[in-house]
Amino acid sequence: MLSRHIDAEELIAQCREHPHKKHASHHGRRGYHQSWRRDEDASETPKYTMPKVGLPSKSAYQLLHDETALDGNPLLNLASFVHTWMPEEANKLIVENMNKNLVDLDEYPAAGIIHNRCISMLGDLWKAPKEGKVIGTATAGSSEAIMLGGLAMKKRWQEARKKDGKDYFHPNIVFGSNAQVALEKFARYFDVETRLVPVKLENGCVMDPNDALQYIDENTIGVIVILGSTYTGHFEDVELMSRLLDELQARTGLDIPIHVDGASGAFIAPFAYPNLKWDFRVPRVVSINTSGHKFGLVYPGLGWVLWRDESYLHKDLVFELHYLGSTEYTFTLNFSKPAAPVIAQMFNFLNLGFDGYKKIAYKDLRNARMLSKALDSTYFTVMSNIHRRIDTGEMSSSSSSDLSIFSGRERRHSNDDPNQYIPGLPVVAFRLSDKYKKENPHVKQEWIQSMLRAKGWIVPNYGAPQGAEDTEILRVVVRETLSEDLMERLIIDILGVAESLMGTDTMFAESHRAQGLHHPDHEHARPEKDNFGNGSTEEGPEQVGFSLSRNLHYTFDKLGFYGLTCTKKTLLSLIDIVHVENDRWTERTNEGAGYVRHFDLGGPTFTNAEYEFVPLYPNHMFMNGTGMTAYSTTGDATTFKHYVVADDLALREGISTSQPRFPVLSSPRRLQASDNLNPFLVVLNADMVFRRFRRVQAAVACSELNDLIDLTLQLAAKIYHQPLIDQAKIAAATLMKIVHDEDEDAEMEEPADKYRKEKTRKTRRTGNSTGASMGSRLGYVVPDPGPNASTEEWLEYKIYQMSGCDLPDPPSDEDEDELPTEPLILNDDDSSPFGVTETVNTSERVRNWLSNSELPDPDAEVIDT
Ligand SMILES: Cc1ncc(COP(=O)(O)O)c(C=O)c1O
Repeated sequence: MLSRHIDAEELIAQCREHPHKKHASHHGRRGYHQSWRRDEDASETPKYTMPKVGLPSKSAYQLLHDETALDGNPLLNLASFVHTWMPEEANKLIVENMNKNLVDLDEYPAAGIIHNRCISMLGDLWKAPKEGKVIGTATAGSSEAIMLGGLAMKKRWQEARKKDGKDYFHPNIVFGSNAQVALEKFARYFDVETRLVPVKLENGCVMDPNDALQYIDENTIGVIVILGSTYTGHFEDVELMSRLLDELQARTGLDIPIHVDGASGAFIAPFAYPNLKWDFRVPRVVSINTSGHKFGLVYPGLGWVLWRDESYLHKDLVFELHYLGSTEYTFTLNFSKPAAPVIAQMFNFLNLGFDGYKKIAYKDLRNARMLSKALDSTYFTVMSNIHRRIDTGEMSSSSSSDLSIFSGRERRHSNDDPNQYIPGLPVVAFRLSDKYKKENPHVKQEWIQSMLRAKGWIVPNYGAPQGAEDTEILRVVVRETLSEDLMERLIIDILGVAESLMGTDTMFAESHRAQGLHHPDHEHARPEKDNFGNGSTEEGPEQVGFSLSRNLHYTFDKLGFYGLTCTKKTLLSLIDIVHVENDRWTERTNEGAGYVRHFDLGGPTFTNAEYEFVPLYPNHMFMNGTGMTAYSTTGDATTFKHYVVADDLALREGISTSQPRFPVLSSPRRLQASDNLNPFLVVLNADMVFRRFRRVQAAVACSELNDLIDLTLQLAAKIYHQPLIDQAKIAAATLMKIVHDEDEDAEMEEPADKYRKEKTRKTRRTGNSTGASMGSRLGYVVPDPGPNASTEEWLEYKIYQMSGCDLPDPPSDEDEDELPTEPLILNDDDSSPFGVTETVNTSERVRNWLSNSELPDPDAEVIDT
């Protein structure tokens, strides 16, 4: 990561102008830490210049501890290959050795010896030829290891070319376009031309060795074959690449070496696919790299690179170090390096042994297959292959019968030995199925990533590599810490998200309907206040122009053909604010603490909030040029302007789309506090109106208004957000409360809130909440109470309907503008490890699926071996 120098003064100046940041803290204090500790030790500590006087260690700890608490939860980070957990004893060993420098061999000879033993073990694991002298080194990760592997190939090629009197200034290297950035970095940093072999979707987005051949010539220093593509987990075919290069050599005399990028695969293949030939058994493989910090199961900061024989390392690359009377050699980019990761790697080798690594690889692959099968049989197409059986062939006849290391529970799973399936990493790469996309064309795959993030899971959605760039891929890396229980939960959440986006009653739905109207709106007059002469934002009791009071809003809200929401700018600011609070809420909840979201309604985002009209059904309500006249009074003078439905269905001064739109409305602070508008209430009311609007098939709005509708729905979803609660089974109920410094809103909300909370609690406890939630934000169903219902029952049913369920509309159009419901999370449902409510239909479906799937039956007989 490259970081730029930050000038604190400049930063403060910029923040004064920034629409979101300017309110975050007192201007003058932005360059300083804000500590919460009672002794306030950190309050004078600058952030971007070194403090003159240091902090007590406790305060420094507290500051950084708090700041790093904002990081994501590594357990739920399914985006990363990097390992996140080691046993207590390993942690102890790491702490004991964290002050040792691996390169100080004189001072720390033990670390050096352990390093050498690691190389020997890895050489053995990767089947290094007995006759050769395997040589290798620890690195910071696979990236450094790849640089060293590439450099060695370059030097060897140059040497050979020099010897033959040929040009040695134009080296190139060949690898698939699916390569991790480290490979391209090597090429750029070391002046080697990159020859990217485009990949194909049908190949699983990996390099086809046959395609690679055409990129090779006499200047090719080597081919890098990837054992475990970062995109899909597929293994590229090292053996085939080698065979084709043998044939090439026979035809042309070109002798092209292979480097295997086994960043992840070199710690999976030896244990899970022992018969797969990808390592030093293939004579053309001259070097292999791996990441100790991926499936080597060590914390970040460790990679390895090994050469099949020391002759592959040019003498110019190797530096001599003399210590304890003997000579040691180094080939690294860095001189100093921490010894602790190397020691931690040896801890794993000793503690797990071959069988331990094998068990973990099997378990990871089993869980990955479970996820793959669940996704493949529902709304997704799985692009990774590790769940597809190979019925015949050499690979399936591997050591699948060697199950002696498994006992008890593991043996029950023995029927799904990975060797029965296509080899690959425990990675699940998937995309929405064509059928799902056809039936739900409005759904964007990236929403799945965002919605899973709201549930705590980090599942990236990214573009496929060159050659298949039109495809987006969602990817889950299954690591040791992703247990079967968590996997089941993940399946429920992914399917639940896919289901919640289906149909028309979703917060994102229907935006495609307006596609015909989508066009760049840049030239069109923006609905700025300047477009309207009398618009004024002056504060004071004598407000003029288009300003909106609470009562006016209430009146407009009653009119079914308008939605009134905030402007895009205000919505974006509010989304930011609520998002930050939601993250904190989730964080605290997962730590087992309670948290009440705080929104300062006296803050400028709220007091300067601006609003816009969204005309609904304009073709019906404003036919044939009829429109709306808006009046404004300044002193004695009253002015007005007439607005009609323009060609793009927005309200404008004329029907042309270049006419100014209806201006934004401000809501200045009134002397009479009860007249002040709360933008949250506006948005929550608009949310109800827009949800209903989008249920109507023929409902259309122009792109700008569609954006406003989308943002309004997004903000409401965030306001209704419920945090993911961890397995800790937090029993305490967490209430969302909008705290503000004007209590007239609170006064109005209180009775309804109290009633709703009590009722919700009752409903949950009495189990009157079975059935599918059908998109309800409450997460459960409140059935229609029927004609003899009490007022309370009827109100509860109304609240349920307002929460976004897709039940039919109520028979009458009576008062639907109760105050917004706030989510209540009561975790008295022991059956859910997370305490989150879930759509019953999805979880039931998953359970059914699990029980009918090919997966091992937990009650099946234990296979005796
Ligand atoms: C195939 C591949 N090569 C290289 C790397 C870089 O590894 P590291 O992060 O250990 O430098 C990665 C990282 O994900 C990878 O997947």
